[in-house]
Amino acid sequence: MLKFENGKPAITQQTVTCIPGDGVGPEIMESVKAILHAAGASLEWEDARAGSQAFEAGIASGVPQDTIDSLSRNKVALKGPLATPVGYGGKSANVTLRKLFETFGNIRPVRELPGVVTPFSGRGIDLVVVRENVEDLYAGIEHGQTPDVAQCLKLISSKGCEKASRLAFELARAEGRGSVHVATKANIMKKTEGMMKREFEQVAKEYPEIEAHHQLIDNCAHQLVIRPEQFEVILTTNMNGDIISDLTSGLVGGLGLAPSANIGHECGIFEAVHGSAPDLAGKDMANPTALLLSSVMMLRYLGQFEVADKVEGALLVTLDLGGPLPADISRGGRTAGTTAFADRIIANLGEHPEGDMLREYKPIRIPDRPKEVVRDRPLSQTVVGLDVFVQFDGYPRVIGSLLEEAAIGTPFQLKMISNRGTVVYPDRGAVTDCVDHWRCRFMLRDGPEADFSTQALQGLLGRLEQNGLRWMQLEKLNRFDGEDAFTLAQGED
Ligand code: NAI
Repeated sequence: MLKFENGKPAITQQTVTCIPGDGVGPEIMESVKAILHAAGASLEWEDARAGSQAFEAGIASGVPQDTIDSLSRNKVALKGPLATPVGYGGKSANVTLRKLFETFGNIRPVRELPGVVTPFSGRGIDLVVVRENVEDLYAGIEHGQTPDVAQCLKLISSKGCEKASRLAFELARAEGRGSVHVATKANIMKKTEGMMKREFEQVAKEYPEIEAHHQLIDNCAHQLVIRPEQFEVILTTNMNGDIISDLTSGLVGGLGLAPSANIGHECGIFEAVHGSAPDLAGKDMANPTALLLSSVMMLRYLGQFEVADKVEGALLVTLDLGGPLPADISRGGRTAGTTAFADRIIANLGEHPEGDMLREYKPIRIPDRPKEVVRDRPLSQTVVGLDVFVQFDGYPRVIGSLLEEAAIGTPFQLKMISNRGTVVYPDRGAVTDCVDHWRCRFMLRDGPEADFSTQALQGLLGRLEQNGLRWMQLEKLNRFDGEDAFTLAQGED
């Protein structure tokens, strides 16, 4: 972690946990280490495993304890890509590492590079996506609730949004960038995506010199293609940032060029945006640039600004000189394998790129860890009802009458039933293609002051079961400071 002495970053020999990873990982890691060594970076490596090797050794999380211990000691890692089975099998070891070390922000810069010709060349693309990194759909809370329906919780905290927002503004400040856009889907997901928008707007007030804008994420994707040069920093929630940052990589030449940093209070994990590229593994064909630029971000994080500039400068000069280049950016010209391209970069160490390609970086201030949880809590918090999620095969009017009957004699009154979010009872004439998963909204008959007791709840659930209805999830309908903390179903009045 960056330490300061007399206001300046103190440079010490740093031991870095090195996770070569899967697929092309070991090849690009080898090349990057060779370049950093030749550039005189003050680093020592401690090798560690994660991903496929760990899964094969029977470690279900994909992250061995030795690796966790190494990162806990060193606080910094350079990581190759880790393969995750798609649609089945173990959880992503990448996400596990990010979450275990609470790396709450993911920084993904892209900019036009010399010699890399794309349909967007000449537009002046130079932007950073800052992505909240541990929450959202990546909370990884998934359940098969009925034979027909699975659910993934989109979990967003105001604290997580605030930390990510602060990181985005601190990054803008450290890199002399004049604006931050937050891109959300707050029009549809008012509570979750809306929370990111609201926290961003609060934090923005502390950075008056930086312009703050909001865009809907779908428009942001469109704007990134139409006029990408308008963006300097884009802040998003986790899933949106995952997608948008692959898009921004594509704007400047592809995943082979896109670096990233996972930043937390305790730890920084630096890795390419791309995955294990199984199609290229073992062929000496992968572009090492993404991981190399990730290592440059790491050097700056460690306060080694000069050597970071030296490595970045050599890369820019090498690209500017033209072929042979890695196949993904050679556009049919002469190609260089991973090792040969790294050797070219080493040969150019000490050369300076033309023009103003090297930005002046200041140390980024990682937002302080909140010392204690002192947040604005609502003065009043009441429960006004209950959503009960029920499994049922049949028609809306049938489940409707079963529920009406079940509620008789309880403090609850059925307000509506929705199926995948659309009101189907009372009948509004919707043509919903119903599945076996029903959200049944009961309100407290006598209003929020009515006694919402566990006993009353048990009474209602017992009546549902007597009527042959299997429930699988309960959700209290909260009202904070008089404002409903739940949304209406589509079509609910
Ligand atoms: P991928 O990023 O591995 O590959 C996508 C495309 O980009 C492929 O055509 C590949 O050849 C190309 N590409 C990627 N890196 C390149 C490089 N350095 N040089 C030249 N071309 C490169 O994504 P994919 O195929 O969707 O995922 C493969 C595996 O990687 C999966 O198991 C996935 O879960 C994992 N993954 C891991 C990540 C990480 O460790 N942070 C991130 C993304 C995916």
